[in-house]
Amino acid sequence: MRFDLTSFITLALLAVPALSAPAPQRPGKPGKPGKPDQNACTNPQERKEWRQLSIPQRVDFLNAVRCLHQIPATRNNEYPGTGSDYEAFTVQHKIQTPWVHYTGLFLPWHRLFLREFERSLQEKCGYQGALPYWDYTIDSGSGKNFTIESPVFHPEHGFGGNGEFDKNVHDILAAQGTPDFWGGGCVKTGPFKDMTFTVPQERYFNESTAPRCLKRNFFLAFTEWTTQDKEDAVYEQTNFEDMEFMLEGGHIPGQWAALHTGGHFIVGGLMPQGAYTTAGDVWTSSLEPLFYLHHANIDRVWNQWQIQNNSEHLWDIGLKTSPRADNVFGPNEDFNFVDAPVTHSTPVDLGAFGGARNQVAVGQLLDTRGGASPEGQKGVLCYKYSQPPKPARSS
Ligand SMILES: *[C@@H]1O[C@H](CO)[C@@H](O)[C@H](O)[C@H]1NC(C)=O
Ligand SMILES: *[C@@H]1O[C@H](CO)[C@@H](O)[C@H](O)[C@H]1NC(C)=O
Ligand SMILES: *[C@@H]1O[C@H](CO)[C@@H](O)[C@H](O)[C@H]1NC(C)=O
Repeated sequence: MRFDLTSFITLALLAVPALSAPAPQRPGKPGKPGKPDQNACTNPQERKEWRQLSIPQRVDFLNAVRCLHQIPATRNNEYPGTGSDYEAFTVQHKIQTPWVHYTGLFLPWHRLFLREFERSLQEKCGYQGALPYWDYTIDSGSGKNFTIESPVFHPEHGFGGNGEFDKNVHDILAAQGTPDFWGGGCVKTGPFKDMTFTVPQERYFNESTAPRCLKRNFFLAFTEWTTQDKEDAVYEQTNFEDMEFMLEGGHIPGQWAALHTGGHFIVGGLMPQGAYTTAGDVWTSSLEPLFYLHHANIDRVWNQWQIQNNSEHLWDIGLKTSPRADNVFGPNEDFNFVDAPVTHSTPVDLGAFGGARNQVAVGQLLDTRGGASPEGQKGVLCYKYSQPPKPARSS
């Protein structure tokens, strides 16, 4: 691309004030053993691509998300701005952000986080289905315009459309020589148009808790990162580290973007200071309801890599508990990172959020169908992914 993507993402990530406020919580407190979902996983629930749900099933899902947003927070409500159970998830994401992005815990931690979100929709809002995913490769590629064509953004039984045109955001981006943007403001269509959030943006909890809207800034040009060949490149990797870089984005020069960053920025646009959108703020992006479908897709691609070729990669894990680049989330010394390899016994947790069932080890999260690890750690999950509605990959 002609403009300098690196400087935008750097800006977005460096636009964090220095120093303390409640110290983000360390994940992986040595913990109580995890309480598995069930004793045996005989009937894994199937997570389907958005288009594979019937219209009533889509509406059920959207209603369940709205329901969670209407329940006063029962967890994490000691943090300012935790307005609802829905937002409590984002508070948890925010306080663990530096330990679960660009580290070996990125994939396992988000897998656990999604499962807890899915469970909350089911237990608190009567949702019967599984978490859907969004396979944006179907909406990407030459001649496609997801912003008008994809059922994901349908105004009634989808997530609504782009944010309103915001001239200020547009001018900030235009001044930096970016491609055309035509959103940037509040989403005014669809089931989330009246939703407001009070979790403060970015790293700290001392910023404004004034209610704010869901903001989007569709970024069509960035769908070059959400195409089928980018997904296929993930499957071609032969070890966990290379696969992870290819899926998450390396956060190293020359390898900023990937399916993961792609899914955030095609909805959220770029993020120089003053042009924040919901999906673009790494700390609080889970306020965007599409975050969950996007991350389910990332989880699906990881799972597909794990189980292709007779599950040869099912138990592969790697990277470290510290980010692979320095000062990604502010000065490293703010976070006391432990530079240890991630293994099957590395703890993964959701802090106080979710209780003992969410204090597990990596080895308990690698098989989505609940299988025990080679060391005999009990699996805690029980789901599988549908084959997405697109032509099967050749070879
Ligand atoms: C929030 O706290 C951080 C770190 O102490 C500080 O840099 C920032 O200026 C504070 N923001 C506000 C609005 O007080
Ligand atoms: C895609 O659709 C949007 C309307 O949502 C339009 O503004 C934009 O120009 C279209 N872009 C292309 C390349 O077709
Ligand atoms: C593993 O599966 C992928 C995707 O189907 C394929 O391209 C690759 O050749 C396979 N590798 C082996 C060793 O069978």
